[in-house]
Amino acid sequence: MCGIVGYLGPKPAYPILIDGLKRLEYRGYDSAGVATLETDGELRIEKKQGKVANLESHIGANLPQGTVGIGHTRWATHGPPSDVNAHPHAGGKGRIAVIHNGIIENYEALRGLLTHRGHDLVSETDTEVLAHFIEEVQTSTGLDLPDAVRTALKEVIGAYALVVLDQTQPDRLIAARKSSPLVIGVGQDNEFFVGSDATPIVAHTKNVVYLEDEEVATMTRSGELTIRTISDAAVTPAIQAIELEIASLEKAGYDHFMLKEIFEQPKSIRDSIRGRVRLQSGEVHMSGIDDHWDVWSKAQRILILGCGTSWHAGLVAEYLFEGLARIPVEVEYASEFRYRNPIVRNSDVVIAISQSGETADTLAAIRLAKEHGAHVFGVCNVVGSSIARETHAGAYTHAGPEIGVASTKAFTAQVAVLTVMAMHLGKRLGTLDDATFMRLMTGLDNIPGLVQKVLNNAAPVEHIAEKFARAENALYLGRGFQFPVALEGALKLKEISYIHAEGYPAAEMKHGPIALIDEAMPVVFIATQDEVYEKVVSNIQEVKARGGQILAVVTEGDTKVRSLVDHVVEIPKVHNALAPLLTVVPMQLLSYHIALMRGCNVDQPRNLAKSVTVE
Ligand code: F6R
Repeated sequence: MCGIVGYLGPKPAYPILIDGLKRLEYRGYDSAGVATLETDGELRIEKKQGKVANLESHIGANLPQGTVGIGHTRWATHGPPSDVNAHPHAGGKGRIAVIHNGIIENYEALRGLLTHRGHDLVSETDTEVLAHFIEEVQTSTGLDLPDAVRTALKEVIGAYALVVLDQTQPDRLIAARKSSPLVIGVGQDNEFFVGSDATPIVAHTKNVVYLEDEEVATMTRSGELTIRTISDAAVTPAIQAIELEIASLEKAGYDHFMLKEIFEQPKSIRDSIRGRVRLQSGEVHMSGIDDHWDVWSKAQRILILGCGTSWHAGLVAEYLFEGLARIPVEVEYASEFRYRNPIVRNSDVVIAISQSGETADTLAAIRLAKEHGAHVFGVCNVVGSSIARETHAGAYTHAGPEIGVASTKAFTAQVAVLTVMAMHLGKRLGTLDDATFMRLMTGLDNIPGLVQKVLNNAAPVEHIAEKFARAENALYLGRGFQFPVALEGALKLKEISYIHAEGYPAAEMKHGPIALIDEAMPVVFIATQDEVYEKVVSNIQEVKARGGQILAVVTEGDTKVRSLVDHVVEIPKVHNALAPLLTVVPMQLLSYHIALMRGCNVDQPRNLAKSVTVE
């Protein structure tokens, strides 16, 4: 979603803000803007629809010079992308400027109140309402800025991460959060940085403070950081060191972040299982489970919550946990779970899966599960994220920063961690026999090398992409462990190439989707050799009989499917529980190449945002 950056210190703010905005463009990118307090006391606001580059050319050579400022990349919620709706927004007197991520739910009521009091609002955004409201509170009460912000926020319903700059206070910057993440970087020489995540901060400092819900921070030029809650309790800032390396935020010679992240998977899977899979001692370790064994050993049900690609990883986990640990599993869209009065018992264990750890629906769903007394385990990629902090226990995925909007390495890292969890549970509960456990352990340890092999042999995928690039629809079919991969393949294609694609369990095809099949319909089958292989072969026959163009992902050496279909991509033979870690890779590459051939922006597909921090 929207990206936030802020700076207060001895240096010119603008280069820091622009660099931060470029790093944040992956979150949301329909407009961008900056506000700085200039040396002559002017509050200078510059904003432009489109990419950060548009903002830069709009500003031209007349660069802002102030040493305090805020910047924002917008992902539109209230009002379409436009110069006027872009952030920062000024209050009515043009004295304060506000940037905001989130949604103010009572903005219409506040807007009515402000209009009644003579405020003239020029944009359609909830953020401008916030700017006017803070200014109104400050003017009418005479409160100091931090107190005025806290007083105003008491009346605000909704989610926000915001930063306020006041023309009359060149030595202070105010930041606040509720349900949307906000990080403060504490630099050398009394410098402060603010970010909606750590990416715009890490080039300057690794010391950060994560603001908690309903906290308002005041940063001063003399290096003081004070935090008070909205209800006026003092909070001692907890400074933490982050491990993020700036190199991990660069493309490292690849044309796109997505391609880099696809090729990073041998490493990201290895990092995610390192220390957990111990081949020499024949053990797997998962302290997040062991530390709460009393709960896990009695779990009657596992409830998995997530959205999008993380939900697909949850579907793979359903097969893993039921198959290896024999615990019933339900996988829920977090967004549906939270609004349907779900039945959650304290004998349930909830697993929340999220790359960003900030997805608003998933966060709200785990809060609900906790209220019902469930033990909640997080599988997150971003260290220190809200979901990681709000769960009772968890396991990080160690995939490293994922910048491409379409999730790739996060998925395989999630599946790898969930596999270790299911193996560990199966072993401890006695539902997984030693021979299968050892086979899975060795198999999992080999997966990074085999993913590398799939990547090394991936050249044909680009040629196959040429055949499919002009399609307007596509079907992805798989069974068992490969059904979630079919869903994930279809999601990847629609996200970045804008081709309408559907994933189905292969056997469901005859209950409806088969009506769509003709010569113009590409059908992607995941037809690896497992217990449903022959069934999938029959499904392939059904599509072939109706003239569909078929690409099949098959096990190395397969001849039967090869003889039936138009194109094949081979993957090495592995245990069927591990196969999704390999079969998803050609799906990712196929989407990537098709999107490139269609001239789409692979890393920043239209309308999408990386971290979905609004409902
Ligand atoms: C798909 C994609 C999204 C995310 C979803 C959940 O490529 O990136 O579908 O998977 O928004 O995000 P996280 O995992 O951050 O909770």
